[in-house]
Amino acid sequence: MALMLFRLSSFLTAIATLLETGVASDSRQQCTTTLSGAKLVADQLQLHYYNVSTGQYNHGELWTDANTLEDLHNLMLATGSDDYRGIADTSYIGQAALEPDTDWTKFLGGSNDDAQWIILALWKIADYKSARGQDSSAYMSSAAKIYDMIAREWDDTCGGGVWWSTDHTYKNAITNELFLLTSAAGYLRTKNETYLENANKEWSWLIDSGMRGPSGLFNDGLDLKTCQNNGQTTWTYNQAVVASGLAALYAATGNTRLLDQAEVSLDATIKFHGSLTDNGILKESCDLAVSNDETCDHDQQIFKGIWTKHVQYYLDNANDISRVAKYSHFLGFQHLGIVRHAVNSAHDVGSVWYTADQGQSQWSPEASASGLQALISAAKVR
Ligand SMILES: *[C@@H]1O[C@H](CO)[C@@H](O)[C@H](O)[C@H]1NC(C)=O
Ligand SMILES: *[C@@H]1O[C@H](CO)[C@@H](O)[C@H](O)[C@H]1NC(C)=O
Repeated sequence: MALMLFRLSSFLTAIATLLETGVASDSRQQCTTTLSGAKLVADQLQLHYYNVSTGQYNHGELWTDANTLEDLHNLMLATGSDDYRGIADTSYIGQAALEPDTDWTKFLGGSNDDAQWIILALWKIADYKSARGQDSSAYMSSAAKIYDMIAREWDDTCGGGVWWSTDHTYKNAITNELFLLTSAAGYLRTKNETYLENANKEWSWLIDSGMRGPSGLFNDGLDLKTCQNNGQTTWTYNQAVVASGLAALYAATGNTRLLDQAEVSLDATIKFHGSLTDNGILKESCDLAVSNDETCDHDQQIFKGIWTKHVQYYLDNANDISRVAKYSHFLGFQHLGIVRHAVNSAHDVGSVWYTADQGQSQWSPEASASGLQALISAAKVR
C-alpha cells in the first residue's frame, strides 16, 4: 500500500512536471506575444496622442505624461529595442530635466504627488540611458533636486507625513506612499543614508496613520481636523505603490515583514470582488461599461495600469519565485481582459477592462498608457 502510494505520488509529480514544462514554454511564447501587443499599443499612443511640438500628450497631464514616459522606457528595457529613444530628450519633462536652470517650483506647480511621478520617470529614463551607455547625469541630478523639495514638505501635522501640495491643506496616501518609494528606491540608487532614514520615517508614520482601513485597502487620505482616515475612495493605484515602496525598503534592509505588509494591500485589491475587481479584472470604482453621467476622469483612467506597474516593481525587488507565482496569474488575467474587452482595431485602449464596453469606456492617452503598462507587467511575470 505504502509502495503504491509512493508510485502514485511519483507518477503525479511526473505529470505535474510535464504540465509545468508545457506551461512554461507557452509562457515564454506568451511573453514575446504580449510585448508585441504592447508595442502596437505604444505606437498608436504616440501616433494618436503625442504632440511633437509641445512634447506633451494631447489631453494629457504632467503627472500622467510622466507615467507614460516611464512606460515607454519600461517597454524598451523589456524588449531591448530603441523604438522611442528620442522621446525623453524632446519631451516637455525631459527638456526641463536637461536644463540645469529649470525653476522646478514653478514647473511642478506645488503638487507633491505629481513631482514624485516625475522623479520615477526621470530615474527610468536614466536607467534606459545607462543601459545604452549614454550619459544619464542630468536626469539623475534633476530627480535629486525634486526629491529634496519634497523632503522639505514633511512636518509634524498629524504626527508626520508629506503634504499633498505646497498649500498644506491635505495629507494623503498617494503622496506618502510615493515618498516611501522615492526614499527607499533613492537609497538603493545612491546609497545616501538620508534617503533610507526618510523611508523608515515614512513607513513608521504611514502604517500608524490610519489611512489603511480594516479591509487592508488604503483610503484616499486623512481628515485634517481629526487626523483620522477620511474614508474616501480606495483607488487601485494606492494599493500597489505602497507595495513597491515596501519592496524597495525590503531590498535595502532585508526585513521580509515589509513584504508581508505589502501583500496585505495587494491581496485586498484582488479579493475584494465587486469593489476593486469584477470577473477577476481590475475595476476602478468609477469604471462603468454602460452609459451613465459619471465616469473616471483623466487622472483616474491611468490608475489600474499604475497598479500593475507597481506590482511588477514590487516583484522585481521582492525577488522571490513564490511571490511572483502568487501574482503572475492575476497580472496575466489583466492582459486577457484588456485584449478581450478594451483594445480597438487601431490599438487604442479604453478605460474599461472588466467587461465588454457598452458605450462608457473612455479613450484617452491615460487609458492607453494604463493598458500599455498592464501588458508590459504581464509580459514580465509570465
Ligand atoms: C499640439 O499642441 C498645440 C498646443 O496645444 C496645438 O495647437 C496643436 O494643434 C497640437 N498639434 C497636434 C498635432 O495635435
Ligand atoms: C544625501 O541626500 C540628501 C538629500 O537628498 C542631500 O541633501 C545630501 O547632500 C546627500 N549627501 C551626499 C553625501 O550626497
